[in-house]
Amino acid sequence: MKILVFDEEKKLDAYVGETICDFIRQHDQATIGFATGSTPLGVYQYFIDSYQNHKVSFQNVQAFNLDEYVGLKPEHPRSFASAMKNELFSHIDILPENINALDGSKEDMDEECQRYETLIEQNPIDIQILGIGMDGHIAYNEPGSPLDGACHVVNLHQESIESSLDYGFDHIEDVPTQGVTQGIGTIMKAKQLIMMAKGEKKADLVKRMIYGEVTPDFPSSIIQRHPSVIVCLDRNAASQL
Ligand code: GLP
Repeated sequence: MKILVFDEEKKLDAYVGETICDFIRQHDQATIGFATGSTPLGVYQYFIDSYQNHKVSFQNVQAFNLDEYVGLKPEHPRSFASAMKNELFSHIDILPENINALDGSKEDMDEECQRYETLIEQNPIDIQILGIGMDGHIAYNEPGSPLDGACHVVNLHQESIESSLDYGFDHIEDVPTQGVTQGIGTIMKAKQLIMMAKGEKKADLVKRMIYGEVTPDFPSSIIQRHPSVIVCLDRNAASQL
């Protein structure tokens, strides 16, 4: 595991952004996994700036979103599909047919999970961007999720529901109580993981993720077992290491 600590958020974003842009430039086809949440937004802005300055094109990129709310159509303004579109995809030249996501509004969610799992098997993810949730989750793999799990529906923990208020929901009752997510096993198949964390509130979580026991009780601890992972932290998130 490579752990990098940056003294400025902008430098962290530029490092992750440039690492991925480099990969995209050097390959005919690049498959990138995208996370929602506030942490990667600076990286997405870096992608947009790089595209606008003609430094990179995303036409050879296949995108896979990590997770979604159950019960929201992809076009719902609070869906993760909409968030990724608004924060990134609508500002770059990625081809719409290359954007892949779980659809949380399908009647048969088991079938939807199987579809997505198979699609990822057929298009292995080269680089997966990850953040860490306030209960240690990755994507929407809540504590207790199997470490080798595939795409599945989850009951969101209270902490995750409350965190969703940061993503534009006005009332807690509006937040869906279930999510659908790539499993930990799915995420671990990505060839490289880039885990990002920022801010003091993530400091104890980061410590446990890197040095704690690898356990389903703290899903992000699984990254210790991945052969190629870069953890990118700002100074505050690294303050307990
Ligand atoms: C969310 C998402 C995750 C994200 C995490 C951290 O609930 N499901 O994919 O990485 O929680 O979010 P943030 O970056 O806003 O702290």
